[in-house]
Amino acid sequence: MTKLAHIDDVQTRINDYLSKKLASLTLNDEKLLAAMRYGLLIGGKRMRPYLAYITGATLDAKQGDIDGVAAAIECIHAYSLLHDDLPAMDDDDLRRGQPTCHKAFDEATAILAGDSLQTLAFDIIANHEFSEAVDTKRINLLRYLVNAAGYQGMCGGQALDLAATDKAISLTALENLHSLKTGALLEASVKMAAECSNKATLYDKEQLALYAKLIGLAYQVRDDIIDITSTQEELGKPSGSDLAANKSTYPALLGLQGAQEKAENLYQQALQALATLPYNTQSLSDFATFIVSRKH
Ligand code: IPE
Ligand code: IPE
Ligand code: MG
Ligand code: MG
Ligand code: MG
Repeated sequence: MTKLAHIDDVQTRINDYLSKKLASLTLNDEKLLAAMRYGLLIGGKRMRPYLAYITGATLDAKQGDIDGVAAAIECIHAYSLLHDDLPAMDDDDLRRGQPTCHKAFDEATAILAGDSLQTLAFDIIANHEFSEAVDTKRINLLRYLVNAAGYQGMCGGQALDLAATDKAISLTALENLHSLKTGALLEASVKMAAECSNKATLYDKEQLALYAKLIGLAYQVRDDIIDITSTQEELGKPSGSDLAANKSTYPALLGLQGAQEKAENLYQQALQALATLPYNTQSLSDFATFIVSRKH
């Protein structure tokens, strides 16, 4: 598996931004802030920020604008993981090679840290110093984030995921669930980054949204595959936990090979969507390759 170009720079940049943002908050409860820092800054591949930066670079958006978009999305992602690991949800003890937030702190603190990281995302969109052109699009950015994070997006997908536990569901239902719980935020990373560009036409945005939809789905299909095929050491989270919890996953429905074919199929379609664009989309196609071959 090849490494993504400039991933270290992206990780350093976004970590600096998020760390400064946390440091700027008026001190309230120190334990809560420590739990937020734990959930947001310890580890994490930063795939959503990466996707936002490469989309921005493809469309000549300003990096300073993408900073706000990437940071906000990563806050939503971090919060979703804190809550996903809670006993009432997946009840996992390990995340990013460390005890989960509710294990390192306590359940109430992990819930509040998640809540606080979620609102921090909106704080960032509301207050980030966007360039003049993007400043006028703040409300559009907000709309994308709301749609991706809430009932119509990630939270809705998480609810469908819980409802599908211990049940056999149709392929269509599984696809919808995956698209929402994981696809929505990855899609938002592309759409919000494209919103920061003056260059992208409506057609470009549609094709990029399609690409994002396809790789967003592939991301979760791959997550389900590596839950079975990778070790706990590789994953930094328990392996085999979907099976143990009797989750509805692509491998559960189609078998491991069927799931791999599904990921490959989504990958090919994503490349086709990129091929219609009048830009150098190499980094976006490399990202798609990374998604379907990642081992953690
Ligand atoms: C894990 O997300 C959960 C899914 C939505 C598939 P990531 O694989 O992006 O996790 P981190 O942020 O790198 O830990
Ligand atoms: C998590 O899906 C998706 C969100 C947190 C929105 P999973 O439950 O499959 O994620 P992991 O495997 O625990 O990282
Ligand atoms: Mg889950
Ligand atoms: Mg989980
Ligand atoms: Mg998983």
